Amino acid sequence: MNSIYLDNAATSFPKANGVSEAMKRFLDEQCCNIGRGSYVRAQETGMTVLETRERIRDLFDCPDEKHVVFTGGLTASLNMIIKGYVRFGDKVLISSFEHNSVIRPLMQVGAQIVRIPADEDGRSNLSALPEDLSSFRLCIHTFASNVTGTIQPIAPLARKLKDSSVPLCIDAAQAAGHFPFSMSSLGIDALCMPAHKGLLAAQGLGILCITDGFAELLEPLISGGTGSVSDSFAIPSYLPDRFEAGTLNLPGVIGLHAALEATDFKANRLHERKLIEHFTRGLLGIPYIRVIGSLRPELRVGVFSVDFDRRDNAEIAYRLEKEFGILTRCGLHCAPDAHRASGTFPEGTVRFSFSPATTEEELDAALSAIDSLA
Ligand code: ALA
Repeated sequence: MNSIYLDNAATSFPKANGVSEAMKRFLDEQCCNIGRGSYVRAQETGMTVLETRERIRDLFDCPDEKHVVFTGGLTASLNMIIKGYVRFGDKVLISSFEHNSVIRPLMQVGAQIVRIPADEDGRSNLSALPEDLSSFRLCIHTFASNVTGTIQPIAPLARKLKDSSVPLCIDAAQAAGHFPFSMSSLGIDALCMPAHKGLLAAQGLGILCITDGFAELLEPLISGGTGSVSDSFAIPSYLPDRFEAGTLNLPGVIGLHAALEATDFKANRLHERKLIEHFTRGLLGIPYIRVIGSLRPELRVGVFSVDFDRRDNAEIAYRLEKEFGILTRCGLHCAPDAHRASGTFPEGTVRFSFSPATTEEELDAALSAIDSLA
């Protein structure tokens, strides 16, 4: 039985054309470090890394390619922001849908967490916020929940925060590569992203795009060799070196370079919109299930969480694989808050998530399996 992979919110599969080949070629033929040796191979690799920063800058309208920092993953990017900026007792505003990669580091530093209540569509209800937010040190907000797939009202949130001079950090785990947005126009101060989901590159690489003003306020979480100003024991003051101590995941960056070259993100969004409309229509016709989050396609990414009224969700996920070859993720998806806000805690949901390679035929097979198991 061929499998149907619908767990792209965990990691996308397949990766973009050319990603694995570029990574293999780098490891087999070019492998070297950058910013250390000055031989031609190192300079060539350095140029590819720079080009990757430039492509990310252009895709997300980040202020400067030097402000595109490579990290060990989205979780590492979020930890760098939280542990480099938030201190014990600071008040931090978050949505009701945050992942444990936000909440656990906030708990670890001893922040006072304040959640924005959600409206009926599963979006942050900004009218519940006071006019003056200046008592908050930071706001961290998901762009699209990994549980509900609902796109959040980031533009009006950013405007409110600007009025009170509160920096905004966005978790774009399920947004980056899924729909276009501009960091600069939205007024995002720190944008945290994984390379291995919507950007269709390999695991183990994250990205942090950061404004100049916020970078100045952020203490580096990691320090060490950068290949620059080595005569000084002080951490370099300039970016990206200030936040990139140690050797980068260069095979990962080379893979991301290939993914960005090969991918038409606008075409992918159009395809994803069609899949969302198709899957939503299909789900709405099936009894004994509940779909959480907004049902408006324009407010969604291709991530659907389904609660089965009469069945155990873990059993459904097991049977989807065993009987139909459909791969999903069930449970709490590392985001218990999102389930609390959606009324699906502690049982969780079965999650179906798409990639640009997902077809309507695959979704029809999933819909028919859901119907027969519900
Ligand atoms: N956070 C990822 C998910 O939602 C791994 O599955």
